[in-house]
Amino acid sequence: MSFYITTAIDYVNGVPHVGHAYEKIATDVIARHMRQRGGDVFFLTGADEHGEPVADTAAAEGISPQELADRNVARFKALLPELEISNDFYVRTTDEGHEQRVQEVMQRIHDNGYTYKSLYEGWYCPRCADFKVENEILEGNLCPIHEIPLVRESEENWFFKLSEFQVELEALYSDHPSFVMPLARYNEALSFIQSGLQDVSLSRAHLKWGITVPWDTDHVFYVWFDALLNYYTALGYARPGEDLTDTFWPAQFHVIGKDILKFHTVFWPAMLMAAELPLPEHVFVHGFLLGSDGRKMSKSLGNVLDPFEVLARFGADALRFYLMRDVQFGADGAVGMEALQARYENELANEYGNLASRTIAMIRRYRDGVVPEVELDPALRGEFDGLADEIWDLMDGAEVTAALDRVWQRVRRCNRYVEERQPWALAKQDHPEAHHELNIVLASLAEAVRVISVLLSPYLPESTATLLKAMGSPVISLDQAAFAEHGSGSLVEAIEPLFPRR
Ligand code: MSP
Repeated sequence: MSFYITTAIDYVNGVPHVGHAYEKIATDVIARHMRQRGGDVFFLTGADEHGEPVADTAAAEGISPQELADRNVARFKALLPELEISNDFYVRTTDEGHEQRVQEVMQRIHDNGYTYKSLYEGWYCPRCADFKVENEILEGNLCPIHEIPLVRESEENWFFKLSEFQVELEALYSDHPSFVMPLARYNEALSFIQSGLQDVSLSRAHLKWGITVPWDTDHVFYVWFDALLNYYTALGYARPGEDLTDTFWPAQFHVIGKDILKFHTVFWPAMLMAAELPLPEHVFVHGFLLGSDGRKMSKSLGNVLDPFEVLARFGADALRFYLMRDVQFGADGAVGMEALQARYENELANEYGNLASRTIAMIRRYRDGVVPEVELDPALRGEFDGLADEIWDLMDGAEVTAALDRVWQRVRRCNRYVEERQPWALAKQDHPEAHHELNIVLASLAEAVRVISVLLSPYLPESTATLLKAMGSPVISLDQAAFAEHGSGSLVEAIEPLFPRR
């Protein structure tokens, strides 16, 4: 089974923030889960380098757009391994392979008759790199997303006949109710389509920083037409000498934020239709991270969660866990250092970390580090029945928060199990039944910790790897997530606390 998953590609006119990190972490969790299924996974992320924002910032700094992009791409790229992102390729829209393929696909759209030249006049947001239609514009002529003044622009442009795809797009939505997820976003996209599609301009004459329109070389492509195609172009050159398109296109999952819904759920499928290319299966739209006070994050309000600070203090697993657990994936959510610290201490350290360390410590103390070979406790086994299947289904719908919660319920159940069974009391009793009972409790706990860790590994890749290695069961494929006698007889090694006090 091949599985192709992508994030949006980041504008590199600034430095990476926690919103960028969030989208990559969520996508990474899904990609890692799909690899656990044994799938042939390709996970793409990258940088969106063309367009006004980069050109304008570079001009203000007195450097070339390429210099600015190179400098910032280095920062965005460096963050990925620190977040433990397991992407298979990093696409840059200034890559030669991307530029060539954009020209090929757009030429096909032109040859198929879906373009025309015309004068465009409208209200333009330089931050969105988008013209706004009348009913979107906020009072005072402000951008509905950035709340900055719109600029009146008029120029001779090439247009894409988006309006010709009205019927086909409506059919796509009625035939594929999970094309856009969650449902509220599907409805939003569909009502945008039903309100009537206008053609959109696909080129810029006044801008030099972009990919040249091959049939009219005074123009460059409007940045969104260039950027959206990254998902397709990258497969052509990600592996030198190899074309991955047949293996991985169409994508199963595009993961994006709610501010770029229209481009991915309306423009993108229409472009692919115009180029006669297969459509992606799902677009998953996540919400926005807000400042700790629930307002939009901004340096001046002092409510920003800085991913670099979190990484330095708590490490990648803590940031990954916190964001996936605290913000319901799909919805907006406030995030902040205090809440992160609370989750770290209460859940990672006191619940999961403590369960792991006491299980290991008791097996070492009472059984010389060897997991007893004995039948497992049906009371605990029952808690895990069907769990891996449930996670599987949730992940098919990108429900990363819900899936994590299912596993966490088992973490808590196991801690209660320890309290109920009181292994330390059993260890004190000097008769064969107590000895046998303790074997069952310890083997069952070891197995539960192992299964939980396999299921948590997409979220906590580093700490689960350390723990599973210490337990002598490093394999994380999902077929190892059944509660059975997998760990029987393994030798368990001592480990440092997984989540030490900070
Ligand atoms: N370059 C375009 C995307 C082109 S995709 C073909 C872009 N770049 S961006 O850098 O502004 O945003 C990249 C992704 O980060 C988007 O999916 C966006 O929604 C997401 N986020 C940006 N700020 C965010 C938050 N505060 N919270 C969550 N995600 C946010 O848009």
